[in-house]
Amino acid sequence: MLPHTHPPGGTGLPPTNSATDLARSVSLCVLCLLAALLPPASPCPPPCLCSSDDLVVDCGGRGLSSLPPLHLLPQRSRSLLLTNNKLASLDAYAFANLSSLEELDLSNNYLDNLPGGLFRDMSNLTRLTLHNNSLTVMDRELFQGLGSLQSLDLSLNGLSTVPLGLLDELQKLRWLSLAGNRLHGLERAAFEPLANLQHLELGHNPWECDCNLRDFKHWMEWLLYRGGKVDAMECTLPKDLRGRDIRGVPVEMFNYCLQLEDENGGVGEGSRSGQGGGPPCSRSALNPSGSTPASDNSVDGSSAGGGREGGGDAPPDCVRARYRPVSVRRAIGTVVIAGVVCGIVCIMMVAAAAYGCIYASLMAKYQRELKKRQPLMGDGEADGEDREEKQISSVA
Ligand SMILES: *[C@@H]1O[C@H](CO)[C@@H](O)[C@H](O)[C@H]1NC(C)=O
Ligand SMILES: *[C@@H]1O[C@H](CO)[C@@H](O)[C@H](O)[C@H]1NC(C)=O
Ligand SMILES: *[C@@H]1O[C@H](CO)[C@@H](O)[C@H](O)[C@H]1NC(C)=O
Repeated sequence: MLPHTHPPGGTGLPPTNSATDLARSVSLCVLCLLAALLPPASPCPPPCLCSSDDLVVDCGGRGLSSLPPLHLLPQRSRSLLLTNNKLASLDAYAFANLSSLEELDLSNNYLDNLPGGLFRDMSNLTRLTLHNNSLTVMDRELFQGLGSLQSLDLSLNGLSTVPLGLLDELQKLRWLSLAGNRLHGLERAAFEPLANLQHLELGHNPWECDCNLRDFKHWMEWLLYRGGKVDAMECTLPKDLRGRDIRGVPVEMFNYCLQLEDENGGVGEGSRSGQGGGPPCSRSALNPSGSTPASDNSVDGSSAGGGREGGGDAPPDCVRARYRPVSVRRAIGTVVIAGVVCGIVCIMMVAAAAYGCIYASLMAKYQRELKKRQPLMGDGEADGEDREEKQISSVA
């Protein structure tokens, strides 16, 4: 090799020449080796950093207001991080063909309304983070196709509802955060598909602990019973429950909702639609002693002390809703029974009175007839006496 390229000469220089050639060819070889090890320019979308194994593509904090060219995403990539950018909207096909991704982090952006079906191709996604964006409403098809999703972070947005059907496909979801939104209430039916949910974050929302939340509270209790976890869910309304964790509010305090439903036709739709939402009963109405939840079980025996607790600052509607059902219904029952008894007694009294009248008139008639006869009998007697006297006198 080297001897052939450098024919022997008598100058004494060849050794140094062959030494530089050697160094050059060695470095060439190293370059060749490097080139062989790192295949031609492994693609990475321009402003992003791809990890050495290409599994993580980090595009965070680049001030991006649109997505990087995702068709350049390495085939093997599993995580795509787009945090701390300025993304405000996304095209409906933005994440098409990214079925190999397992993690997508979009936190700390300005995303507001995302198109339905945005993630429909991401069947391998297990972790989706939308923390700290500007979401206010969600298309009910938004999470379509996310059948593998295990963790969904929607915290710190402006969400005010969780639409029915939104979570239907998330059968594998184990962790869900809705903390830090503007949620007042949640519908039980929206959460029922989450058969594998283990952890639910609901803190920092303006919860209204009235009838609209009752069914959800039941579902939550079932989740806790299954061994799931729910973080603090503090009531903002009604005033008297402010700051109290709804997990600690005894379910008996929602009994009046059932009675409201009964009155509204009993379908239960009333309470959902909000029309039968029920007055946010103040605690002074619900719990006159106002002390511990332990004393709340006296609430059910409302008819016992119906009158005495009505006062305070409880809204009159509330008191009515609270007490009308049991006490008034019982009162009506009492009135009906009392009416029937009274009626029977009255009829008997009338009958007795009529009998008495008839008897009295009969007696009067009889007496009159007797009196009519009596004078004759008296005369007769008198005659007799007279006769006797006459007889006596005559004897004398
Ligand atoms: C997805 O991939 C298919 C073929 O693999 C291609 O025809 C299509 O244009 C791609 N769509 C997008 C949005 O990249
Ligand atoms: C999705 O995940 C499954 C199981 O981990 C794997 O076999 C499949 O190849 C993945 N699909 C894609 C498109 O990467
Ligand atoms: C939310 O995102 C904005 C904008 O990216 C950022 O300035 C802010 O610090 C973030 N807040 C939190 C709590 O992460």
